[in-house]
Formats: sequence, C-alpha cells, structure tokens
Amino acid sequence: MTQYQTHEHDVIVIGAGGAGLRAAIEASGLGCTVALICKSLLGKAHTVMAEGGMAAAMANVDERDGWTTHFADTMRGGQYLNNWRMAELHAQQAPDRVRELEEWGAVFDRTKEGKINQRNFGGHAYPRLAHVGDRTGLEMIRTLQDHGIHQGIDVSMEFTVTKLFKDGDRVAGCFAYEREKGRFHLFKAKAIVMATGGVGRAFKITSNSWEYTGDGQTLAFDIGAALKDMEFVQFHPTGMVWPPSVRGILVTEGVRGEGGVLTNKDGHRFMFDGIPDLYINQTAKDPDEGWRYVIGDRDAHRPPELLTRDHVARKIVEQVKSGKGSPHGGVYLDIAWIKEKLPDGEAHIKRKLPSMYHQFKELAGVDITKEKMEVGPTTHYAMGGIDVDGETQMTNVPGLFAAGECAAGLHGANRLGGNSLSDLVVFGKIAGEHASKFAKENAAADISEEAVEQALTETLAPLERQDASGDTQGPYQIQYELQDLMQELVGIVRLEDEMKQAVQKIHELKKRAEKVTAIGSREYNPGWHTALDLKNLLLVAEAIALCGIDRKESRGAHFREDYPDKEESYAHHNSILTRGPDGELVLSRREIPEMRDELKKIIEENK
Ligand code: FUM
Repeated sequence: MTQYQTHEHDVIVIGAGGAGLRAAIEASGLGCTVALICKSLLGKAHTVMAEGGMAAAMANVDERDGWTTHFADTMRGGQYLNNWRMAELHAQQAPDRVRELEEWGAVFDRTKEGKINQRNFGGHAYPRLAHVGDRTGLEMIRTLQDHGIHQGIDVSMEFTVTKLFKDGDRVAGCFAYEREKGRFHLFKAKAIVMATGGVGRAFKITSNSWEYTGDGQTLAFDIGAALKDMEFVQFHPTGMVWPPSVRGILVTEGVRGEGGVLTNKDGHRFMFDGIPDLYINQTAKDPDEGWRYVIGDRDAHRPPELLTRDHVARKIVEQVKSGKGSPHGGVYLDIAWIKEKLPDGEAHIKRKLPSMYHQFKELAGVDITKEKMEVGPTTHYAMGGIDVDGETQMTNVPGLFAAGECAAGLHGANRLGGNSLSDLVVFGKIAGEHASKFAKENAAADISEEAVEQALTETLAPLERQDASGDTQGPYQIQYELQDLMQELVGIVRLEDEMKQAVQKIHELKKRAEKVTAIGSREYNPGWHTALDLKNLLLVAEAIALCGIDRKESRGAHFREDYPDKEESYAHHNSILTRGPDGELVLSRREIPEMRDELKKIIEENK
C-alpha cells in the first residue's frame, strides 16, 4: 500500500484565509491542538480581494450608525433570505472584531480625530467600512498570520484535501496530499472547520485565483452536509476588462466609495437611469451635487454607483449589450474627475487607492489619476455554500463546522461589500470556539484502513489512468469548457432554457471527467491537481444551475430574464441540496424560520 503519514489533532481547520486563521486562533487559544491545512501558501487567500474595507457599525464617521442599522442593511441587501440570527450576531460583533485586529497590530486609516476611519460602500446606510487604503484584506491576513504564528498551530501549506472521513455520523478526519511532492497525509481530528472560500473558478471571468474550486463545499457535501442557496453568485460590477491577461481582476468598490463614477462611451452617467423602487428613496437624482447625495432623510453620501452590486452589475451589462460600452466590452470608471473638487486630488487618489493606482499603471498602462478605467463585472463571491447552524456554525454532520465564504447564511441573496471581511472574523471565531467545545466533549474518532485505502485510490486515479489505452481526457479542456458554459449560460442574466442546457452539458463533462488523465508523476504536477479539482468544480456548477432553475424569480444576485420580478412565493424559503441514494443531487425548499419580533421591528424602523 502507498505510504502516508498520520497526524492527530483536536481540531483541523481547512483553509487559511481570514475565517480559517481566525478559527484556528480561537480553537488554539482555547487549549486545543490545531492543524491548519491550506492549498496555497499561508496568507495567499481571496480575503485579500476584499480590498475596500471591513463593515462594522463603529459610528466613527457618522454617529447615527449602530448594529441595528447594519443588521437592517444586511437583511435588505440579502433580500431577506439571510439567516437572520447570523445577520444579528454579525452586526453586533463586527466592531469588536475590528478593535481586536487593531490590538493585534492592524494599522487602520484614521479620521482627523484619530479614530479608525470608515468609508461608504454599496448598500450601507452610513460610512461603515474600516479600511487600510485599498489593501484591507491584505492587512487582515497579515495581522491574523502574525498573531496566529505564536499560537502553536501546526500549519501544512500547499496541501490539497481530497476527502473527509466519518466515524458513524460524526466527522473523523481528512486525507490530503502535498502539492509539490505528492506525498500523502492522514489527519485525524475530533472536529473540523471548513474555511476553503468560494467557487469563482467555475466561471471564466473571475476575481478568484486558482484555489477557489468549491473544495470545501464538495468535501462537506460528500459526507452528508447540505448545501444552501447555491443560485446566489455575486458578480462584482468592476473587474478589469483589458488587457485580456488581467480580465476579471478586482477593481475595488472603494474606487466608487471614494467618488468614482460610471459612464458609458457617450460619457453618460447611466447609473441615474431606472433606479429601482427598492432604492428610490435613498438616492437623490441630482448630478449637479457631484459626488454628494442625500439618502432619504439620512443626509448620508451615497451616489447611485453605490447601489447594491447586483443592480450595478446588471446596469453595466445593459450598457454593453446596447452597444454603449467601452471598446473592450466594459464601461468607464472615472476617479480622476475628483481632482476638480480637491486641491490635492492626485495625491489624494494615490493615498486612498494605492493598489488601484499601481494595478492599472503596471497591468494596463493607465494612470487613474488622469484617465478613466475600463471595467466590467467579474465573478467574485458565492453567497450560497455549506448549510450551518447560525449559532454555532456546525453543519448537519456532527463535528463538522464551516465559516467564511464556503458557508451560507449571512448574506442571503446578495452580499453587501465589506460584509465579507467582518463575516470571516466574526464567524471564524464562533466556528473555532464551537469546534473546540465539540472536541473537548467528544473522544477521538476512528478511521478505517479501508476508508484511507479508498481515498488513496481516488486521489491516484487520474495518474493511474495515464497508461490505459483508449478514451482518456485531459483536465484543462474539461475545465475550460465548464468555465465557458457557466459564464455563458448561468451568468449575470439567466434563462430557464440556458440553465437546463448547462445542466445537460455539465452531466456530459462529468462523464468525461471520470476518464480524466494526468500525465507525469506525483511531483510538481499541475495537471494532476486540476484533474482532482474538476469533481469539485462540476459539483458546484451543477448546484448553481439546479438551484437557479428552481428559483423562478429575480432576487438579489439571481436575475432571470424570463422572470424579472421578485415573487412572494419565493420570498420565504432557502434552496437546499443533499445527495440522493444514487449520488444524485436532490433539491428541496426550506422555510426560513420566523424572525423574532424585536428584529422585525428593527427592520421596519429602518425601512
Ligand atoms: O470591492 C472590494 O473592495 C471588495 C470588497 C468585498 O467584496 O467585500
């Protein structure tokens, strides 16, 4: 039998972005032995792509802000499909998590009075995003890494987990291989926290890097955890569109938060056209006011470019489809114009948006202090994911927890920008705490030799097939075809027939993936890694399409051209996916539990 090394811990955390690091710090701080396993180098996580800030109602810039308004904004943004308990905990605890990061060394931008500065972002009633220029996610990761490194956490970098094990009903450990050397490892644990991030690589144009292939969602689903609300995929309105090699790279919403405006090829500021009823009270149509707008009676500053991401992304697509886009299939984003308003405009832009300045200068040869950027939507975030209990973050598999982007609930049908960084640390901490509690209350679990043997066989399968004659398939072609079809058929604007076509094509790709072949050995073999990722990509792609077909309405990030309105009959349930007896995906609808009266009142008061 192929050799493998065995490790034993109380808690394993899979994924080392903001949620994974925070969960590991918590579990370790509570006295558990912790292994942190990550697919990439420690610190290289999609967390860094939340550039513009971390939402927390600290009221540093506008004293009217508070957790109740943050809660109401998050629920409105999510179109009320959110797990309201998670939205409540998130809004209440986010300010403490910001202060904690500061205590651990994060250097946030300051107001003139020396408080942590907060900026405007889409869907937030008040300036709420604590930020570090346009590098907030990076600062969060740096801080958590520095803090975590002193906690005695065992870190396994560049390891891919290919299987979770169960002992009876409960989770028991996982199987992983080293991406460089191909060596195998068995990790035994009493509790596991999944924190593997999103599914962006299922689409062609995405802000996500290569790691985000739906691994956590698939691993958890394969041992019986349910997936929830997979139809809701967020297309961030502004990614780079040119040159082709950088298409999809994020252009932070912070650009619009600092006053950036969107225009079409005729210079028209199209975001003022057709503001939906939901937002009409919040945006005063007064272009002469420049970048200061009154939102209802709140006297806050929010231009229409800062309406929620789903709306802004669709408005951009509308412009491009009607021939009013920029030369490379996007629209224009202009921050240079604020120089007219600010005496030190150029320095201000460079100070507030240093990464964007360099990104455009280096990658596109564009000076954003002088020229407009070309931008278009990019797949950015999955609101759906592993179904968890709002109080503890545990899944329906005892001992298996999930936090951050791979978990569903907080954001409902659409996430507000900035709510992901706070999500990561609020629920990373909660998951770590409850995983630790579970580990202390339960004895070590068993993993059978046969189960490990099976995991080994499955992991080696693409390499073993290389000598077989006949019908073999290369992994990259299947991956590209999947990304293309998801982009075309299950993208920003969806139709029943197209999504059905997508499901059929995914089934064909699944059959081809069963024969996928990786040439070469276990060492330094990207073809093998891609072959193993395919199963995960195909599962999450099918899940998105199936849930999308079932939701015959438009809500949040899920927009159907054939059902363009919200339907009351879809307003009260989440989509739930489980595995049927023959391995098929079974979709059901689950009623959202009724909200507590005091929370209903908060929502009413904030309408
Ligand atoms: O635009 C951004 O900076 C992204 C933030 C987020 O996704 O939360």
